[in-house]
Amino acid sequence: MTRTIHIALDINGQRHELDIEPRVTLLDALREQLSLTGTKKGCDQGQCGACTCHVDGKRVLSCLTLAAQAEGREITTIEGLSGESGDLHPVQAAFIEQDAFQCGYCTPGQIMSAVACIREGHAGSDAEIREYMSGNLCRCGAYNSIVAAVRQAAEVA
Ligand code: FES
Repeated sequence: MTRTIHIALDINGQRHELDIEPRVTLLDALREQLSLTGTKKGCDQGQCGACTCHVDGKRVLSCLTLAAQAEGREITTIEGLSGESGDLHPVQAAFIEQDAFQCGYCTPGQIMSAVACIREGHAGSDAEIREYMSGNLCRCGAYNSIVAAVRQAAEVA
């Protein structure tokens, strides 16, 4: 018999109660139990950054984080980034203006990482942006536009 645990997750300002197996990752809980599919599964082993979301304002790889570990903490996903009015977050707007994606699969993780990169004060130069965004892979190779978008968003932050 599979054991389940009851947890409550605070995601994008809303509380969600879940019954899950203790081994379920935050990524799978978001996507499969809560239908928050903006957070993407790429490698599922901590190497691509597609699953990046924020826990207590810090970026985490949700494929390497157990859902149970995130209980009692503030979780933000790409769905929670825009304001209540529905306006795009400045980083989202910059990605569109700079055409910083091709297939778009890595984009939610790139944007969540970029928000944290700027907030942490690591967007002072293109080299710094590249270093602090290096955990987010883009198989289409849109890196130059991604750096331009982060630079643009950092200027208005
Ligand atoms: Fe989490 Fe690739 S899916 S790092």
